[in-house]
Amino acid sequence: MKAKMSVVASVLSATLFFSVSANAQDNLPHLEKRGAVTQLIVDGKPFLMLSGELYNSSSSSLEYMKPLWPKLAAIPLNTVITPLSWELIEPTEGKYDFTLVDGLLAQAREQHVRVVFLWLAAWKNGMSSYPPVWVKQNTKRFPRVVLHNNPVNILSAMGGYSDATRDADARAFAAVMQHIREVDGQEHTVLMMQGENEVGVLGDTRDHSPQADQAFASAVPAQLTDYLKAHRDTLEPTLRALWLQNGGNTSGTWAQIFGDTARADEIFMAWNYARYVHAVAAKGKAAYNLPIYVNTWLANDDNIPGNYPSGGPQPKVIDIWKAAGSAIDIYAPDVYDPDFAKWANRYHRPDNLLFIPETNGGKNGAANVFEAVGEHAAIGFSPFAIDGFHEGTTDLGESYSAIDAIKPILFEQQTKGNVHGFTLSKERPFAEFYMNGYVVHVSLDEIFGNHAESGYGLIIATGQDEFLGVGKGFRVLITPRSPSSFKLGYASIDEGTFKDGRWIPGRRLNGDENDQGNYWRFDPKSVKIEKAVLYHYE
Ligand code: DGJ
Repeated sequence: MKAKMSVVASVLSATLFFSVSANAQDNLPHLEKRGAVTQLIVDGKPFLMLSGELYNSSSSSLEYMKPLWPKLAAIPLNTVITPLSWELIEPTEGKYDFTLVDGLLAQAREQHVRVVFLWLAAWKNGMSSYPPVWVKQNTKRFPRVVLHNNPVNILSAMGGYSDATRDADARAFAAVMQHIREVDGQEHTVLMMQGENEVGVLGDTRDHSPQADQAFASAVPAQLTDYLKAHRDTLEPTLRALWLQNGGNTSGTWAQIFGDTARADEIFMAWNYARYVHAVAAKGKAAYNLPIYVNTWLANDDNIPGNYPSGGPQPKVIDIWKAAGSAIDIYAPDVYDPDFAKWANRYHRPDNLLFIPETNGGKNGAANVFEAVGEHAAIGFSPFAIDGFHEGTTDLGESYSAIDAIKPILFEQQTKGNVHGFTLSKERPFAEFYMNGYVVHVSLDEIFGNHAESGYGLIIATGQDEFLGVGKGFRVLITPRSPSSFKLGYASIDEGTFKDGRWIPGRRLNGDENDQGNYWRFDPKSVKIEKAVLYHYE
């Protein structure tokens, strides 16, 4: 009887253990589809990473970082993207050193700031400067890319040929993830991980090692051709066009299916990098299941691969990356190009949410965060070199503070598709969108002949005739969609702020401040939070 009871007890405690750990697992930072958008959920609630990425070498020294954290928190950032390099984690094979992980987490927690770690391992900006010396030295075990008959200083990503590199990289990454689980599995200071950094071959369209040449002349794997078939109607348009122009074949070599051009080389490299990075990410997730993203050195479609890292997840090859595995959650653009909106549009897809891990800070960042968060429900925004504290950090901080204040409303209305964001300039002085069945016309602010040179913000529909706006340098006119039996006017416009989620009204804006009742204005002086209520008349 006693024995029987202890069996029952241990079954019960095992059941309890599994349900507790399943709950803990559920509680990890994760991505979740909520209504119209996918949000990052941290400790059960949506989280928007108002972030910045450190210079590449800053986080290699705890002493160097120590005075920076309070300044970063004061911007205010709620998340810091923080490099973590393979060479410092595993200086000797199989011997891991987590001093930096532990120290960086302690420093971040002191300032109540969260962290996204960059796993700088086999590749950084297409090159291989971050692996430990024991990897760099052993070119037989860890082979290099061959360009123009010469092995170069870039580790190969070729399936089969580079498996030892992939496995060593994955072992180290899994050790890091296991350690983070142990020291942060409850606190959740670490929100996500970046796998590698801006991967792809530089210097030629593809690897020309004998192994790569042989693989290129072989059949395209069925896993990829099956994906093309299954996603034929939704493939990224330039990839679809390329495939169909070449006959829409579902078997053959890379050149037979994609044509004998640089595009086929890039697709071939994308497949090999993707297989490698998915494999590393999967091993890491098995140890600790955080979201993982991969970032991209962007290039326009007419640029030649090799001038930029060939094989990285450019928009035209995201489908190739997706065909190769499912361990990577987000494909993310590093947007330094002035046309921020173009790249945000290309990366925000039904199967890929928007996250901006690197971009310009200063005035550009202060503006573009509204486009990213308002128009694309981005889960995070992160200017690079944030610890430079360059001129303009205050502009970014002003935008971040205002967005932070409206977060609860933003998160709720995002799920219903009730949010729009925009950046305006002399080149793009208007934006127009539909909300609540009305047309919302946004334009650069003007009053008595004074014209704003730039404007940015977001508008949220909080009720049929109630709107919340944030930003500066623009004005808003809301009209019924024609034909209509009524007209719309502004019943009230109030500026204010939120304290602990509660609206604290400030001035009632009227007269010049709403152009005598004609426009909902956000003057160019500073970022404001304002509420507008409409009335109907005939
Ligand atoms: C993009 C890289 O991902 C960063 O690490 C850094 O090198 C920047 N370029 C420099 O602009």
